[in-house]
Amino acid sequence: MELRHLRYFVAVVEEQSFTKAAEKLFIAQPPLSRQIQNLENELGIQLFERGSRPLQTTQAGQFFYQHAVKLLSNAEEIKAMTKRVGTTDRVMRMGFVASLLYGLLPRITYLFRQQQPNLKVELIEMSTKDQIQALKEGRIDVGFGRLRISDAAVRRVLLREEPLMVAVHSSHPFSNKTEGVYLAEIAEENMFFYPTTSKPNFSTQMQSIFSEHGLEPRYSKEVREIQLALGLVAAGEGICVVPDSARTIQFPHLKYIPLLDADAFSPIFLATRNLDESEDIHALFDCIYQIYDLEAIKYDRAGF
Ligand code: BEZ
Repeated sequence: MELRHLRYFVAVVEEQSFTKAAEKLFIAQPPLSRQIQNLENELGIQLFERGSRPLQTTQAGQFFYQHAVKLLSNAEEIKAMTKRVGTTDRVMRMGFVASLLYGLLPRITYLFRQQQPNLKVELIEMSTKDQIQALKEGRIDVGFGRLRISDAAVRRVLLREEPLMVAVHSSHPFSNKTEGVYLAEIAEENMFFYPTTSKPNFSTQMQSIFSEHGLEPRYSKEVREIQLALGLVAAGEGICVVPDSARTIQFPHLKYIPLLDADAFSPIFLATRNLDESEDIHALFDCIYQIYDLEAIKYDRAGF
């Protein structure tokens, strides 16, 4: 059995048709059917239900499909990593979601550059979801994001849980509540969610925190990015929920107050390819935890 057979089989399952799979693979249908027949002969089992329309896998076929997808993804990963190891100039490409720029990302990256003078570090802004694909294709080596997106080829390490704050105008009655407010108190307000990038994103995460509390913000609007949301709050148009680090963004009359619910946190994750055990990645973790120690940020160093 060769990887080619797995690729053919996966294409037939996903297209549910030999004709469509052959088109996708740019091969003629008879050799494709022969290859699948050879595969079934080698395994000594039937992978597809005969005569099914659209084509259905047997139970064994479904099992084989799940493992074939994993194997193909591992093969892509090995290819990307070997290319990376083979390049003479060491490069670390770091994907990140924009909101992390207001927190510790600039400091961490600067310190990491100083500690690794022979490593070229590149920062590339992209959503957490896009980071997963970019990691698998070798376009980035690590990804910093806020979402719990799982993928068999990707290892996700929780770095810390960042507290959430509510941004309000100084004339708003909440601005005197310096001890903080609960989600239930803000659900009736004019609320800005952001960004408008492809879902899931920070907006989805915030809306699910409300629904987990059985709440639905009454007047909500989605805006392109965090600066826009905060500018509109400073203009007296409403309020918004932000990660604590966004407090570095200042506008006249903009006040930040804590969100008091026990789950009012936004996680920060570092994602890497599953098989990537490079020393540069270990060094990056060390650098992050050095900054956390300096900032007295609590963390649970699991694995790295
Ligand atoms: C942080 O704020 O904890 C953080 C931000 C970006 C990368 C790593 C950590």
